[in-house]
Amino acid sequence: MSSLLVVMVWNESENGTIGRMKSLLVANWKMNPPTFKEAKKLFEATKKAADTVKSVSIVVAPPAIYVRELRASYRGKRIAFGVQNAHFEAKGSYTGEISMAEAKDAGAAYVIIGHAERRAMGETNDDTRKKVASAIAHSIFPVLCVGEKERGHEGEHFDLIKEQLKTGFADVLIAKIPRVMIAYEPVWAIGAETAMNPRDMHEMAIFIRKTIVGLYGEKGMVVKILYGGSIDERNASDMLTHGDIAGLLVGRASADPEKLTALVRAIKNV
Ligand code: PGA
Repeated sequence: MSSLLVVMVWNESENGTIGRMKSLLVANWKMNPPTFKEAKKLFEATKKAADTVKSVSIVVAPPAIYVRELRASYRGKRIAFGVQNAHFEAKGSYTGEISMAEAKDAGAAYVIIGHAERRAMGETNDDTRKKVASAIAHSIFPVLCVGEKERGHEGEHFDLIKEQLKTGFADVLIAKIPRVMIAYEPVWAIGAETAMNPRDMHEMAIFIRKTIVGLYGEKGMVVKILYGGSIDERNASDMLTHGDIAGLLVGRASADPEKLTALVRAIKNV
């Protein structure tokens, strides 16, 4: 049942979404690279990796200013595009922002919402709620990021994750849950030396699923969970194998042509 839904979801959008997936890799380039020339080079390496390793589907989320031209140059079907943020309002006086409609028009099929680096700039749970709803209204797949800054001894981080999920999903109708992906990114593992332990990810994946099932009932089981935070070619395969996840949200290693190639090769047979 759930894999059928995945196929349906991933085939839903006519333009730019990917087909059947095995492992999903969301490449969050963040504010890199500094020139479009380098962006094209990085995209070429990503394209080559996607073409040679068929078991991995890739969503490239470059700086928004690069999306349209990269999308226009791409003829394949195995890479989809995303943006790293978009505003919840449809249009208006929001200097420096882009809307979901503009992101979609440029070729984005996915939007990262509530990334820790945006939350650090003031994005609230309530903002993520509005953004998730707006993305769905514009037929863009939201990737809702959740994660705690630190872990105490009493398991307080579970309460925080629950709150992030409950608010982020508050305006999502049950029929739309399969469209929302959750990226669990513990803030302490982002931009760090090492990723989280896959066993801890497994525990968190169960908690996330339980929370969504608590909100929606058994239908919540369809929700797709990604892990993000210091993933590279050394730890990706282990995380995919033991983390109980559908894919990875990758920052630094996705913005370096050699690292990205090595990473995709490393998860080839997972
Ligand atoms: P990182 O970033 O892979 O560089 O740790 C992950 C992210 O912020 O999405």
